[in-house]
Amino acid sequence: MSQVFVSTHPLVQHKLALLRDEQTGPKKFRELVREIAILLVYEATADLATELVTVQTPLGPAEGRRLAETVGLVPVLRAGLGMVDGAWQMLPGAEVWHIGLSRDERTLQPVEYYSRLPVSPTVDVCLVLDPMLATGGSAVATVDILKRWGARRVKFVGVIGARPGLERLTSAHPDVPVYLATLDEQLNDVGFIVPGLGDAGDRMFGTG
Ligand code: PRP
Repeated sequence: MSQVFVSTHPLVQHKLALLRDEQTGPKKFRELVREIAILLVYEATADLATELVTVQTPLGPAEGRRLAETVGLVPVLRAGLGMVDGAWQMLPGAEVWHIGLSRDERTLQPVEYYSRLPVSPTVDVCLVLDPMLATGGSAVATVDILKRWGARRVKFVGVIGARPGLERLTSAHPDVPVYLATLDEQLNDVGFIVPGLGDAGDRMFGTG
């Protein structure tokens, strides 16, 4: 059974409404995606293991905890790139591996055009970053790639998910927790999330 987290946080909801707004231009769009990524990565890392450390304060020793697991960020090109900076603000030591997938406009199937992974996994947890989970084809393909590569723990961090895509991802990869800012019910007949926000890559990079 997949763990699915859909944020109800007021800051996430506020930023999401601005993000959806067709009046929001690329600069503001990028800022909002970065900020929402920070808030979602905070949730997606809530179960990371920590270990005990002792540090010296000016007044003496204090016990604390430090992360005992390493995290890799896997942005799905192009739109996933917009989430990297926010995730990096929370995880400045995270390695970043890029996977390039584009959705064939006719078949809606993801086509892999770029993948840059080390020979074997070097981290404990991979966070897949992609603002849009529409049909779920790209997310399933990305997790397939990571699992074939040997990744043991994978989580998906998106912004807007559509219910059909969420169901496809969770049925293909029930072990992959999913973190979203919101869940929309529908896709239109060309595979866009409704109401969604349009094409995230185009709005982020000012293309299209
Ligand atoms: C969009 C989006 C996801 C994918 C979601 O990317 O950023 O990667 O589509 O659709 P799916 O769930 O139906 O697979 P797109 O292929 O448009 O590429 P882009 O990010 O370069 O614009």
